[in-house]
Amino acid sequence: MNEAIPQLLTHDDQALNRAFAILEEEVRTEAAVLGSLDAQEAFRLRWLGRKQGRLKLISEAWIKSASPEAKRALGIRFNQLKEQINSALSVAEVKLDPLKNLENFEALAISGIMSLPQGREHVLGSIRESRAREIIARGGQLDITLPGTVRAPGIPHPLLKTMHEIVAVFHHLGYSTNLGPQVESDFYNFEALNFPPNHPARDTQDTLLIADQHAKPSRDRLLMRTHTSPVQIRTMIAQAPPIRIVIPGKVHRNDAADATHSPIFHQVEGLCVDTNITFSDLKGTLDHAMKALFGASVKTRFFPSFFPFTEPSADVQISCIFCGGKGCRKCKHSGWIELLGCGMVDPAVFAAVTEERRKLNPSDDAYNPEKITGFAFGMGVERIAMIQHGISDIGHFYSGDMRFLEQFA
Ligand code: PHE
Repeated sequence: MNEAIPQLLTHDDQALNRAFAILEEEVRTEAAVLGSLDAQEAFRLRWLGRKQGRLKLISEAWIKSASPEAKRALGIRFNQLKEQINSALSVAEVKLDPLKNLENFEALAISGIMSLPQGREHVLGSIRESRAREIIARGGQLDITLPGTVRAPGIPHPLLKTMHEIVAVFHHLGYSTNLGPQVESDFYNFEALNFPPNHPARDTQDTLLIADQHAKPSRDRLLMRTHTSPVQIRTMIAQAPPIRIVIPGKVHRNDAADATHSPIFHQVEGLCVDTNITFSDLKGTLDHAMKALFGASVKTRFFPSFFPFTEPSADVQISCIFCGGKGCRKCKHSGWIELLGCGMVDPAVFAAVTEERRKLNPSDDAYNPEKITGFAFGMGVERIAMIQHGISDIGHFYSGDMRFLEQFA
């Protein structure tokens, strides 16, 4: 350890380059022969030893006489040298025992310090394999029942899972899927759905408006869609009957968040338009869908309701899946749970659609209410998922808490 400390007479760049090049070369030469743990430890002590390490002795000697600026430059160079020493040690450790240092090896491989001939997985796999062979050759025991590296693949979020389940039920009935924008115009979200401007029914859907829209005519003003129903209009303007579509998506309402409300939530809308579609078709379709989602023993009942875009309108209730209809806390002792809204498409909606379609084809008559009828329905995905899984707080869906999410893996 009593080696000479090299001299540094001036602190200009050139002098530093020369002095550090010599030290780096010294490190490289010594690092090339670290084939045993003892050699590695000796190398570490010689360079990084706290009291007598070369890095410490040389830096003390060189920094003592340096000006403040030169001290900075020296500090940077000594840090780089230290990094070189540390990474030489890591490489030597990995070479000596690849398995024990798998993580290290991976890190070095990724940063390019150690090269990998083929895919990373392959190399790591073969290191494990050769290590296993080595253990067996030495007469050791290999416990193949020990758990391996468990990789956690992603899972669909519970809300998406329920949304897909709902959509799949209707796909099996021959429905296809349509999507629409979340930033919607007043026309699609309200007017064409028979909510005239200032109509009180708009108050039931507390709307988040996009700022600075007042210069526009009211039908063009933008808002966050409050339901998926505007996509009914978009679909009918774009295509003639027969129509059977489901529309899953995000909707926004200016509701305060509580255990059952969130200002952003999800709906699945349905629309069926054809000749001779009746309320019986609507009942049969939704009864089937509820049985597919909640089990064959679930009953449905339809209660009169109101939506501007359906006439007649109904709320659909299912027999309480928690108590089988006997009455419990979850169904407020009624035996029934209210789940979705539906109804027969109001002729006023067909009229609004026809008006738009005639802008492109003045003789269009595809949505003549004398010839075709239809039904529509809309359900909240959160509400259905909460009932399916017995979740009492909607906030769990958005919390990102792994303890909650992992239960759906
Ligand atoms: N859009 C309505 C809502 O969000 C639900 C609905 C859809 C009702 C289709 C009838 C028909 O409340």
